[in-house]
Amino acid sequence: MNLFIFGGTGDLAKRKLLPALYRHFKAERLSKDIKIYGIGSKELQASEYHEEIKVKLSDNLDSVEYDAAVINEFIKKISYIKIDFNKKNDFVNLKKNTSNTDRNLYYLAVSPLFYKVIAENLNDQDIIGPLSSIIVEKPIGNDLQSSIDINESLALYFNEHQIFRIDHYLGKEAVQNLLALRFGNILFEKIWSNVAVDHIQITVAETLGLENRGSYYDQTGAIKDMLQNHLLQILCLVAMEPPTNINSESIRDEKLKVLRSLRPFKTNETDEHLVIGQYKEGAIDAKAITSYLDENGVNPKSQTETFVALKLWIDNWRWSGVPFFLRTGKRMAEKRSEIVIQFKSVPHNIFDSNNKQKDNQLVIRLQPEESIKLKIMIKKPSASGFSLQELPLDLLFDDYYEDDHLDAYERLLMDIIDNKPSLFMRRDEVENAWSYIDQLIHSISESEIKLSKYNAGSWGPSSSDLLIASHNAKWNNEED
Ligand code: BG6
Repeated sequence: MNLFIFGGTGDLAKRKLLPALYRHFKAERLSKDIKIYGIGSKELQASEYHEEIKVKLSDNLDSVEYDAAVINEFIKKISYIKIDFNKKNDFVNLKKNTSNTDRNLYYLAVSPLFYKVIAENLNDQDIIGPLSSIIVEKPIGNDLQSSIDINESLALYFNEHQIFRIDHYLGKEAVQNLLALRFGNILFEKIWSNVAVDHIQITVAETLGLENRGSYYDQTGAIKDMLQNHLLQILCLVAMEPPTNINSESIRDEKLKVLRSLRPFKTNETDEHLVIGQYKEGAIDAKAITSYLDENGVNPKSQTETFVALKLWIDNWRWSGVPFFLRTGKRMAEKRSEIVIQFKSVPHNIFDSNNKQKDNQLVIRLQPEESIKLKIMIKKPSASGFSLQELPLDLLFDDYYEDDHLDAYERLLMDIIDNKPSLFMRRDEVENAWSYIDQLIHSISESEIKLSKYNAGSWGPSSSDLLIASHNAKWNNEED
């Protein structure tokens, strides 16, 4: 088996893919016959490439994982090939190492602008066979049309089952756990609908800024960088109907139905449904943070959003009348990804009016720690009277599993190697997500919605609090 990593000298390969492969190698999960090729346009000797990898591994592995002797063995599996992606003849260097009967995994850790030409050149060398797969990263395109173009150009040479489209959130253990929570327990499924749910919140908040990706980010923004993929994928897993089994097609069919049921934005209602923001200077953990407009690679007059919050509706039987509030942003108060299922009030309050009854809430924390917290009302012990109090049923995964977690890329790479497509996006999912985002972006420009500024280190613009307050609700910004 050959794993060819285009962009082998790039950030993704060195920071995520090679450390993930190293961990598999160390744990003896990597098949002995796999050969790894880093591909880049730089002129590099294998020994120089190996040195670069060693430096990055030492930067990205913790002291328990780092083992110099194992690293020396690991890099023996890795070769370097210099290829200019636009030069047909350079691809001859690949052909020397493989044939179309081998299992070839072509991982494109490069800009989507190169996807088409790389696929064409692989085909010209006749090194795509029935056992080959191609792996591409989100974002798949920049809008619906460009994603169709990319998908079409890959489909010329690869069948759909040979194409792995990565959204690394789907590789996160906690995201997959949503399936277990929802479909492994009768408890929740019966109340997982407009019968008992008042609204649902999905938050993916980051404290990170642009991490040297200023020019990419300034062209992209939070809607395309995070909402189009990670948040919509989480939404699908929260809202989908039970699939008939855990097979990839069953799950993707159900996710697709959710995407198809998203209610399009009406231009005249956009400002009631959406807030976009951009961070200005502030502080996180007592460290001063510069404003977005002062970041490297960002146009000083940029109107790109670094925060988005929206109220969306899923037009189907289960979710009719239940709003979903989604938000994501950079430079926010905390790194926190979570789902809050807010349940309705009890139909009739039997307690006296001194008792403040709170509605049940299920908080599913995806990161930084993985936990499930169900807030319930209990009776506070007392000598007399009857007082209610809210307490959590709390499940912290680290209490049960310490070192068993694979990082998202470890999991995804293993699934690619084992040819298991469930955790990857199917073409129709990507295109339907873009179709929703295209019309959302269109409504923003039609309604001339303005960017709201927020302080770095805050929970986003105050208009985002007003958005959810319109439903008599509040974002869950509580500290633990
Ligand atoms: C990436 C985005 O897809 O996800 C980044 O391009 C973002 O802007 C990152 O920082 C967040 O991933 P994670 O795994 O750190 O939550």
